[in-house]
Amino acid sequence: MLNGERKIPRPLRWAMIGGGRLSQVGYKHRSGALRDNTAYQLVACAFDIDAARGRDFGINLGVAADRCYDDYHQLLSEEAKRADGIEVVTIATPNGTHYEITKAALNAGIHVICEKPLFFTSAEAREIKALAAAKGLIVGVTYGFSGHPLLMQMRAMIANGEIGEVRMVELQYTHGFSANDSADKFSESQKWRVDPKIAGPTFVLGDISTHTFYISQLVLPDLHIKSLLCDRQSFIPSRAPLEDNAMVLMHYEGGAVGRMWASSINAGSMDSQFIRVIGSQASLEWSDYNPGELKYEIQGKPTQMMHHGMPYLDESALACERLGALHTEGLAESWANIYLKFAIAISAQQRGDQQTLDNLIYPDINAGLEGVRWIENCVRSADNGSTWVNYE
Ligand code: NAI
Repeated sequence: MLNGERKIPRPLRWAMIGGGRLSQVGYKHRSGALRDNTAYQLVACAFDIDAARGRDFGINLGVAADRCYDDYHQLLSEEAKRADGIEVVTIATPNGTHYEITKAALNAGIHVICEKPLFFTSAEAREIKALAAAKGLIVGVTYGFSGHPLLMQMRAMIANGEIGEVRMVELQYTHGFSANDSADKFSESQKWRVDPKIAGPTFVLGDISTHTFYISQLVLPDLHIKSLLCDRQSFIPSRAPLEDNAMVLMHYEGGAVGRMWASSINAGSMDSQFIRVIGSQASLEWSDYNPGELKYEIQGKPTQMMHHGMPYLDESALACERLGALHTEGLAESWANIYLKFAIAISAQQRGDQQTLDNLIYPDINAGLEGVRWIENCVRSADNGSTWVNYE
């Protein structure tokens, strides 16, 4: 169980680029990173595309005025001059800026925590992976819910053979917030999401399905896609060529099959993410709508509902529990868990602790690369008339 006590020798000097006052995701980063008060100190920022608003926001959060910068170029160059300059930066800007900012930060010798989808192409992701390796720097990707303890439980039970041989993986990340186009015109956060120049080659596939795809990789690390078929469409025509709805069928190596439904036009739905893994003897099911429970169904026996924080869980799940059974453990705790793992990875890298790095399970550069690869294969299939394509 985590209690906030320090897990690394000292807090890392941390900055944020993007994630400003009006952003959707900025607060999740800050509450994740600063939750324990022993892993990060927010010491610098370039929070906003509007420099004055970003500076005002930074000062209100307690960042020193002379370390609230106009943009990321200034942040990286000024911090490099300081003996106590930043060690790690979070990039929480719209998708189209991730690659150039990540590259600039790594070239400045700074560890990176970046939003998903990481980049537009897997070639960019491979280039950045090589750059990070050459520089000896960590790149983490914020698949927010992937730090939930019950996903570690799911991973452990599947690895222990408690559902038998995996036959089917059902994935879903849907909501109805884009059922009409009003936000496309008026919401700053939505406008860029339907603009391919900024969002990249997809809307919902990149925006939401990458989360659930990573969760499937987290709980099923040995399952690899062999081929897939993606059907994507835009029910709001102005969003084309980007999709507001997509369905993907998958064939895995070894014979298992899967499907993913990603949608922002699931009108009225507040369900968000769902994963069900069906084995030859039993199934496991988890949803972030009710994240504190993991459904375990053995064929021919009564359903078991496993609760977070209970002593019958695997030690890997209990190790990232924060609040204990009976008390709601959700998105904020999950963000704190992945931020803590980023900090442990960065600290291990700084101290040359390879054993820690080898055993740490967290969304790293490979997880970011795999998300981009997933999007690329989906688009290739969809643009090829929604036909089966080999997974490349
Ligand atoms: P948003 O449009 O709500 O906010 C973007 C923020 O970045 C704003 O504060 C804006 O002023 C700032 N910004 C834009 N360009 C900048 C630049 N060049 N330099 C500094 N600041 C800049 O966008 P939202 O929804 O917060 O998304 C940001 C990123 O986070 C996207 O990549 C998105 O896919 C991802 N995201 C991830 C979530 C998760 O659960 N991990 C949830 C929501 C978004």
